[in-house]
Amino acid sequence: MKISPSILSADFANLQQGIELVEKNGVDYIHVDVMDGHFVPNITFGPNVLQAIRPVTKLPLDTHLMIENPEDYIDAFAEAGADIIGVHAEATPHIHRAIQMIKNKNVQAEVVINPGTSINSIYHILSMIDQILVMTVNPGFGGQSFIEESLDKIRQLADLRDEKGYHYDIEVDGGIVPETATRCKEAGADVFVAGSYIFGAEQPEKRIQLLKEAISE
Ligand code: DX5
Ligand code: ZN
Repeated sequence: MKISPSILSADFANLQQGIELVEKNGVDYIHVDVMDGHFVPNITFGPNVLQAIRPVTKLPLDTHLMIENPEDYIDAFAEAGADIIGVHAEATPHIHRAIQMIKNKNVQAEVVINPGTSINSIYHILSMIDQILVMTVNPGFGGQSFIEESLDKIRQLADLRDEKGYHYDIEVDGGIVPETATRCKEAGADVFVAGSYIFGAEQPEKRIQLLKEAISE
């Protein structure tokens, strides 16, 4: 089980401090939410911000691209230091090519699906990917409520992995708090993104501890 704090809810004027705090408290990845104001109605960071935070942490940068034309930016994010790159299936008609491009850069390849997208649309790339991100809110903002229907998709993906011997991790993102994390874990999730739950707290270290307990039971 892995925890991937989303710096979307961190203090942007003190990113280094936020990253060091969560790293010290034993998280597994740093989740970086890249938004372009087109694919989602919000704007965050580009490759230059990844490059700036790269030397600050040893943790893998778990990069979630919420952008149109993702193929145009895969090389830039890989070169900036991303360890995992996730592309939304809805953002490109050529998701197979996008996954190949990520793998060609020797970066772990992830496909991301929105709450309204069924797993049928990505069925044929499941053997290629290292991680699948099941969005448990509609992407764009932190602090939204968990969408229950996502649990079914997590179960289907966990069953398919067993049945076919695929190797992907299942990541969940949006509305993750201990209670929803436990339910996602029971459904088959392995990687838990949490933004506002961790960075919105007075004592993020306590929240990390509570999340760890929720997914280790
Ligand atoms: C939403 C982002 C998430 C966001 C999650 O579009 O992909 O990573 O930071 O925020 P919380 O954990 O607050 O729901
Ligand atoms: Zn995200």
